[in-house]
Amino acid sequence: MAQKRDNMPSPDWDERYRTGFYNGAKSPHDLLVKFAGLFAGKRVLDIATGRGADMAYLASCGIRTVGLELSWEATKLAREGTGTQKFPTSFVQGDARELPFKKASFGGILIFFFLLREIAQDIAEMLEPGGILIYETFLKKQNAVDRYRNPAFLLDDGELLSLFPGFEPIYYEEGTHDRSGKPRITAQLIARKKI
Ligand SMILES: C[S@@+](CC[C@H](N)C(=O)[O-])C[C@H]1O[C@@H](n2cnc3c(N)ncnc32)[C@H](O)[C@@H]1O
Repeated sequence: MAQKRDNMPSPDWDERYRTGFYNGAKSPHDLLVKFAGLFAGKRVLDIATGRGADMAYLASCGIRTVGLELSWEATKLAREGTGTQKFPTSFVQGDARELPFKKASFGGILIFFFLLREIAQDIAEMLEPGGILIYETFLKKQNAVDRYRNPAFLLDDGELLSLFPGFEPIYYEEGTHDRSGKPRITAQLIARKKI
């Protein structure tokens, strides 16, 4: 059973990648593969890129992607992993709390397994009208079936939809989505920014 710890310190992501405590997705997320066609012809931002499997996939589909990631270690892995793709990818190593992009500078944004509620409005503003958001991350229910994660970075039921009021949902689902045989209780959102 998951062990509860309050006041958890912020994780050191570089350390996590260096030690192998966390490896990041090595293949693209199923939700992205299913809906990547919505990104066609758009410039796309991947927030909290990890090791870049989603960016490599989009590049293989001919979609230009920019990755924003806090960890140097992850950014290094992502650069190595996307270097062989013929479509350009670029990386910004930085903190999503201080997103360095102009308003309406992307046609698409993807976010997998990362949550900072306070940047929801920035995310909305960085998308051009009609832009596409693809977002999946854990619900708080995940803590009942897996190692304990800080609930501050997990979603309440119904919350992901409510974070993006200026969007028209194309697809929304909350439930158990297995990956590599492990249950993941997540919210999945595909939405279009209203014009
Ligand atoms: C659970 S991982 C998900 C990585 C990737 N999206 C995936 O699904 O494989 C969370 C990622 O967020 C990054 N991260 C944590 N805090 C961040 C921040 N403030 N700004 C940008 N990236 C951050 C971590 O380094 C880590 O790569």
